[in-house]
Amino acid sequence: MARKPIIVGNWKMNKLRSEAEEFMNGVEAHLTGEEKADYGIAAPYTCVDTCVKNAKHLIVAAENCNEKDSGAYTGEVSVPMLEELGITYCIIGHSERRTYYNETNEACALKAKRLLDSNIIPILCIGETEAQYDAGETENVIKTQLNGSLAGLTGEEVARLVIAYEPIWAIGTGKSADEKTAQDCCKLVRDTVCAMYDEATAEAVRVQYGGSVKPTNIKEYMACPDIDGALIGGASLKVDSFLEIIDATKE
Ligand code: 13P
Repeated sequence: MARKPIIVGNWKMNKLRSEAEEFMNGVEAHLTGEEKADYGIAAPYTCVDTCVKNAKHLIVAAENCNEKDSGAYTGEVSVPMLEELGITYCIIGHSERRTYYNETNEACALKAKRLLDSNIIPILCIGETEAQYDAGETENVIKTQLNGSLAGLTGEEVARLVIAYEPIWAIGTGKSADEKTAQDCCKLVRDTVCAMYDEATAEAVRVQYGGSVKPTNIKEYMACPDIDGALIGGASLKVDSFLEIIDATKE
């Protein structure tokens, strides 16, 4: 069965609620729900409710969650709390969280499991640093991150995931991975899932590329056989550029 492409904007720590509402209405006005791909945004916790209320066709994702349901974890937000708001996807393991907040592969595995138990689809981010890329360690990093972050998940669960390959050197740098590198790494993600599970799981899992994706380069990535969409930072913040991305990928 063909995989449905999925394109998600990651707003990171940007947008007030009023700005989120304006964005949702601006983009929704151009969607019919008949598009061939899934489109959505990942919003800061404070905007999630606003986004869900204004969403008609767009997916609304959270940018993080805690793996525990409740308790003495000051400042954290649990999956039941997000579930109550009506989100359907949640980013986990973003490189910014891995770097600044020590989010580990073990934490990703627990978060993924907890999200899936609530029928929320994890968007698991992985990717190597520039130093690792230069040292030829990309393959090793991808395999290690997948082995750790998928630990304890069944093939049926992994088949529902979105995995975003985001080389850290391409994030926010304007230095996007060339088409071949992006395709090769997304194929490596799929091959690793195949080795860990089976062919059917690998064929089902959706793999995104992320890192300086723009209206001008999205088409090249989408044409690659193992790339099923994109996770987009900077170019997802403005209605116009997000609409250009949608237009470039609609057919
Ligand atoms: P940019 O598109 O701004 O490079 O960010 C990518 C990213 O981190 C998406 O999660």
